[in-house]
Amino acid sequence: MHIHDYEKLWLGLSLVMIVGFIATVTYGAVGAGVEMIDDSGDTVDPNSLADHPEFGDPGVEQVGPNEYDVHVIARQFVFQPDPIVVPANSTVTFYVTSADVTHGFEVVGTNANAMVIPGEVAELTVEVNEPNEYGIICHEYCGSGHHDMEGLLRVVP
Ligand code: CUA
Repeated sequence: MHIHDYEKLWLGLSLVMIVGFIATVTYGAVGAGVEMIDDSGDTVDPNSLADHPEFGDPGVEQVGPNEYDVHVIARQFVFQPDPIVVPANSTVTFYVTSADVTHGFEVVGTNANAMVIPGEVAELTVEVNEPNEYGIICHEYCGSGHHDMEGLLRVVP
C-alpha cells in the first residue's frame, strides 16, 4: 500500500517536471526571436521606442472610470515622464521599459517595484487611494548617475 502511494507520488512529480520542462523550452523559444510591439506585449524594441504607439509619448492615459495606464521609460538617469500625475482612488498599471541599460523602478514606501530590462516591459498594477507624493527610485546599479536617478509619483485629489 505504501509502495503504491510512493509510485503515485513519483508519477505526479515526473509530470510536474515534464510540464515545467516544456514550459521552459516554449518560453525560451518565444523570448529568442519574437518582438511584440503593443500594449499587452511583454517585449519591445529598445532602439525604436520613439516610434512605439505608447512609449513614443510616455505618460498617463485613462482607460476606465477609475483606471489609468502609465507608460514609463527609464534611461540613464531619468524616468520619463516626471512627475507622473494620477488621480486618487484609482487603479494604475505601470508599463515600464528601458531605453538603454537595466534599471529598477520602485515606488518608495510601497510594494511596487520591478526590474526594468531593455527589450522587456515590466507591468505592475497598484491601487492609489489618498493624495500623496511618492518618490520613484532606480534600485539597480545603472552607471555613474544611478544614485541620482529619481522620479516622482504625484497622487492628486
Ligand atoms: Cu537607473 Cu540605477
